[in-house]
Amino acid sequence: MTPVERTSVSDPIDFAALPDDFTWGVATSAYQIEGAVAEDGRGPSIWDTYAHTPGMIDNGDTGDRACDHYHRWRADIGLMRQLGVGGYRFSIAWPRIRPEGDGPVNAAGLAFYDRLVDGLLEAGIAPFVTLYHWDLPQALQDRGGWPVRETAEHFAAYAAVVAGKLGDRVSHWATLNEPLCSAWIGHLEGRMAPGHTDLTAAVRASYHLLLGHGLAVQAIRSAAPDARVGLVNNLSTVEPASGSEADAAAARRMDGHTNRWWLDPVHGRGFPDDMREVYGVPLPERAGDPETLAQPLDWLGLNYYSPAVVAADPDGPPPFARPVRRPQVPRTGMDWEIDADGIETLLLRLTHEYGARTLHVTENGSAYPDVIRPDGTVADPERTDYLHRHVAACARAARKGAPLAGYFAWSLMDNFEWAYGYDKRFGLFHVDRATQVRTLKDSGRHYAGLIRGHARRGTPGTS
Ligand code: IFM
Repeated sequence: MTPVERTSVSDPIDFAALPDDFTWGVATSAYQIEGAVAEDGRGPSIWDTYAHTPGMIDNGDTGDRACDHYHRWRADIGLMRQLGVGGYRFSIAWPRIRPEGDGPVNAAGLAFYDRLVDGLLEAGIAPFVTLYHWDLPQALQDRGGWPVRETAEHFAAYAAVVAGKLGDRVSHWATLNEPLCSAWIGHLEGRMAPGHTDLTAAVRASYHLLLGHGLAVQAIRSAAPDARVGLVNNLSTVEPASGSEADAAAARRMDGHTNRWWLDPVHGRGFPDDMREVYGVPLPERAGDPETLAQPLDWLGLNYYSPAVVAADPDGPPPFARPVRRPQVPRTGMDWEIDADGIETLLLRLTHEYGARTLHVTENGSAYPDVIRPDGTVADPERTDYLHRHVAACARAARKGAPLAGYFAWSLMDNFEWAYGYDKRFGLFHVDRATQVRTLKDSGRHYAGLIRGHARRGTPGTS
């Protein structure tokens, strides 16, 4: 059974459960859309290096041009207006601001984001700024990258520069996007920049990412006292593949690896003891660090795509749990299992287990191999279905008490999907790679309908 057959996009959504000032938004990140990698003084990042290393990215794609958003940002704000969104989550490229990571500030780089923020505000769209979406300046990688403590300090200094420039107009700030990917995928699995497979480096990177987060929260608040600062994690529900004790233990470890390692320290609980034991790597802790990591946050961001189903894997790398592919479960074009209930479960977990006071779904979306039909339309029923089901699940979580303040669809437009290059399309707008023409997909039209449905508290698809 396909996901399209088993659901209907006209199923009602409990919009009344969402606050009146709920932020409907779209999300992107710098390297995935900007292009212009050598313009106006931008320095190279670890993703430029990684993408240009033969064999790392499907089809040899790179972010050199990406969606050319650096030049087309005004028109891209127009796309957001077409959707009717009230928020835009984007990231700042650290190597545009400080090309050497910690050296002189590049005024031209700052000016780009300054113009973008003004353009968004003129369009009535609230900017949600992420300071780090994986594009570490290569110069800092050359000096050790996230496994060394100085990188966390340089991150805070860069955050202060950006908050000092934009803090009079930007109220919502996220320090890091998905530190799990930077640490585990970038340093342990080697499938993302910087492409290392070293457990000690990965654990040290995870520590310094969260330290950098804490230091950056302080830096942002000093530069912009009214800033509302949060952290964005990609979390998953985790289920054991079988009823065996070994698989149950694997699921607990995977939960530690994916969820608790990133949530516990920033909530003042320290790094989970069971996972310290699993990794067996001493943390580079110093007195005062636990308090720095646990700065009170104004909001938490949840990026949710898929559940994890795992079995014990004693011979694999930590956390000694391997993903299991369940048969006959609907999957996206990324081959990720679809389970909309997972977003509800995680929002409620953040509410009850971590006491979140404000939550944003900062990313949620799906990739499928869409094509433009001869009549110019892009029919993407599976993405539309995924979107509708997940928004409905968010509303259910809100009804049950989750303090959900916003939902940001990933992504505004098809873009550079990291190691998968441009083949995996997550956009609400289709992007023609040769011409850069953007075309609204049916899912984008549906999203616009949901936004209007919330505004009038109606039921989209049935009116
Ligand atoms: O494209 C990515 C994004 O950069 C981070 N979160 C997951 C998305 C889809 O893989």
